[in-house]
Amino acid sequence: MPSTEVILSIQSVSKIYRMGEVSVAALRDASLDIYDGEFLIVAGPSGSGKSTLLNHIGGIDRPTSGTILFLGNDLSRASEAELTEYRRAEVGFVFQFYNLIPTLTALENVQVATEIARDPLDPLEALRLTGLENRADHFPAQLSGGEQQRVSIARALARRPRLILCDEPTGALDLETSRQILGLLMELNQKLKKTIILITHNNAIAQLGHRVARIRDGAIHTVEVTAVPKRVEEIQW
Ligand SMILES: Nc1ncnc2c1ncn2[C@@H]1O[C@H](COP(=O)(O)OP(=O)(O)OP(=O)(O)O)[C@@H](O)[C@H]1O
Ligand SMILES: [Mg+2]
Repeated sequence: MPSTEVILSIQSVSKIYRMGEVSVAALRDASLDIYDGEFLIVAGPSGSGKSTLLNHIGGIDRPTSGTILFLGNDLSRASEAELTEYRRAEVGFVFQFYNLIPTLTALENVQVATEIARDPLDPLEALRLTGLENRADHFPAQLSGGEQQRVSIARALARRPRLILCDEPTGALDLETSRQILGLLMELNQKLKKTIILITHNNAIAQLGHRVARIRDGAIHTVEVTAVPKRVEEIQW
């Protein structure tokens, strides 16, 4: 394990979405400690609560009950302003479909994320970290899927967050491009010591992490430590 310091602690978290008469338990009594600097995989079937869990970790959503501590600070009871500040300072999100602004260039997409940040990376430096400095002036439509994902990773890095949260980041990419993106994320974990939490359906990808939390029907039922995490070249799917 990269560190024994718990950066984020999820304690008995439940989330009930109420839609009129119907309620959905998206998380049920989920508990998990996340260690500083680890590469944690969250795996589980569709509808099991993976994105809900990630949104709670990222301060986008709040639990119905339970506690989420970031370095000891209680996010579940934080004010809206405190949660916004937490998201800005500590969290970078990477999504399956990139969520880039189509009318802005790659560089401008990253720049937007650095506005009102305290000590951001230089946007071009962020693009350099993801290997895309030579595409800085391209618009999203002028980039391949893998390149767009690199921009979105640069955007996630730009405010120097401690947590990078990835929701199926290779779900729309082919095998070789997926390998490159996963290799990049692993490098950012190792070199920049970012704590990475990555959601996947894919058991081959799960072997890349230091640990795998398996979730079913909103409950985290096992957390496995990967004896020797695989290298991207080794995974098959
Ligand atoms: N905002 C919401 N309002 C109501 N129900 C929701 C909401 N978000 C999620 N749910 C429900 O909670 C459950 C868990 O959803 P979630 O998106 O976390 O699943 P998931 O594991 O990410 O699935 P997938 O792999 O398909 O993305 C689902 O049954 C979903 O319909
Ligand atoms: Mg999801």
